Amino acid sequence: MRRIAVLTSGGDAPGMNAAIRAVVRSGINRGLEVLGVRRGYHGLMRADFVPLDSAAVGGIIEEGGTVLRSSRSAEFRSPEGQGRALAALRREQVDGLVVIGGNGSQAGALALHRLGFPVVGIASTIDNDLLGIDWTVGADTALNTVVEAIDRIRDTASAHERTFVVETMGRDCGWLALHAALATGADIVLVPEIPFDLEEVGERVRERQRAGKAHTIVVVAEGAASAFEVAREITERTGVETRVTVLGHVQRGGPPTAFDRVLATRLGVGAVKELLAGRSGVVMGLRGGQVVAVPAEEATSGKPALDVSELEGLFTL
Ligand code: F6P
Repeated sequence: MRRIAVLTSGGDAPGMNAAIRAVVRSGINRGLEVLGVRRGYHGLMRADFVPLDSAAVGGIIEEGGTVLRSSRSAEFRSPEGQGRALAALRREQVDGLVVIGGNGSQAGALALHRLGFPVVGIASTIDNDLLGIDWTVGADTALNTVVEAIDRIRDTASAHERTFVVETMGRDCGWLALHAALATGADIVLVPEIPFDLEEVGERVRERQRAGKAHTIVVVAEGAASAFEVAREITERTGVETRVTVLGHVQRGGPPTAFDRVLATRLGVGAVKELLAGRSGVVMGLRGGQVVAVPAEEATSGKPALDVSELEGLFTL
């Protein structure tokens, strides 16, 4: 293996830059040439390569977003798109590819692996939704961002004795919402994985009012329900005044936490090692505190279950 390429794809996540840096620097240290691919699979299909030396990734470990840019590419999902990507890699004499991204991006990496091209993934998404992986790059930073926002919301909620509904990201997965609710002591959390009844939510809000609580905080993952709908239902059922905060893309930006920088660096070094060892079709992630290479087929085969069994009695779900 002489030349490798690295790309970031799908929703960006804080720590992607730290992962790029680790891939580039450990690749160079091991005698490889490293190319960056701009704009994920979109750029790969158009052979948008840029040579990366050690200096090119200086001063980015602390930056959110991705210096390589990212994209969501419907075109790459087709066999024609994948063929174009493969042809670009071969033309550029690239011997291996590192894909930094979440579920959809790793499914794309798996497709290239199945076409016979050596690919190793780095699990990176704020959704933390890759199977067999405990922590993906960016999840810790996003979680801390949500926690900080809810702490601030609680101040004003309590001052006005209001009920707030806070919507987090998580199209199919409630990891972020659940953990943010846990970390902030929120009163109710609604996630796509667990069925809920809005009548029960209303009842819980009424109970808190009767008990003289100053405020109620409801955390909703975007994939469970719209915060506006939940707030409207609460008001209709209880007469309680509600306010809504949709956190949106604020959750994806900002400098990565120390945890995400270290994780991204470990996974970047691990990815280069895997490629050099001749392995492909795996996603690097953290499991049980160890860097592991999970088969991409397994990592993308479904969503991790949300285990709330230890929390019984603490939450109205
Ligand atoms: O990166 C995953 C994710 O953050 C989801 O939680 C969210 O639904 C989606 O990205 C939003 O993506 P976009 O920026 O393309 O609207």
